[in-house]
Amino acid sequence: MFWTFPSSTGTRNTGFGQGSFMLPLIRDATEADLPEMMAIYNEAIRNTLAVYTEEETTLADRKLWFAARTGQGYPVLVAVDRNDGAVLGFATFGDFRPWPGYRHTVEHSVYVRTDARGAGLGAALVAHLLARAAALGKHVMVAGIDAANPASIRLHERLGFERVGTLREVGTKFGRWLDLVFMQRILDPPPGGSSK
Ligand SMILES: CC(C)(COP(=O)(O)OP(=O)(O)OC[C@H]1O[C@@H](n2cnc3c(N)ncnc32)[C@H](O)[C@@H]1OP(=O)(O)O)[C@@H](O)C(=O)NCCC(=O)NCCS
Repeated sequence: MFWTFPSSTGTRNTGFGQGSFMLPLIRDATEADLPEMMAIYNEAIRNTLAVYTEEETTLADRKLWFAARTGQGYPVLVAVDRNDGAVLGFATFGDFRPWPGYRHTVEHSVYVRTDARGAGLGAALVAHLLARAAALGKHVMVAGIDAANPASIRLHERLGFERVGTLREVGTKFGRWLDLVFMQRILDPPPGGSSK
């Protein structure tokens, strides 16, 4: 049996759900998940351009971040292995910008453990975020993606995100200038219409 989920380009099969593997569970994170989430995040800081910093984070920092994010009523989701409960990835969103006029727009992020990548988990996490954002009455989800991150760009294209622009050389890491691609998706309005 394959794990399937809908996307803009149809339904895809994933490596999960085959043989002894089981469909990962996507649920709200708890504080107990933070050490594993931090390990995934710090790997991305060390080895990728997903986060524009070379400074790894700490558990104390993650606890503050988690309290702030959930205190705002925003989701922090984890995908966990149903066999051993290990965290395979996480995704979340926060305010796009702090001004009141941006209150219907959120910016999200998604991270998948290195050995779980390429099986549709990142897309599944973002698909869950899209539903949670719509349920909160949000109108737009924005992703800021390094231009040299084709996996993330592809994932978002599959979920109906549109590439809307590139900010050239706005970031720096590993001794070079970095271009930031913005992608956005306008969310389906909730039943009864959206408030502005
Ligand atoms: C980006 C990331 C979240 C993707 O997670 P994932 O679970 O591997 O994503 P998915 O399997 O759902 O989708 C990845 C897509 O990119 C494609 N892809 C992977 N590497 C690619 C590459 N080098 N070039 C082009 N496409 C690539 C995959 O084939 C897949 O497309 P498909 O569905 O058409 O087959 C994961 O690689 C990751 O955590 N990277 C480090 C952190 C990061 O970059 N986060 C995003 C910040 S914006």
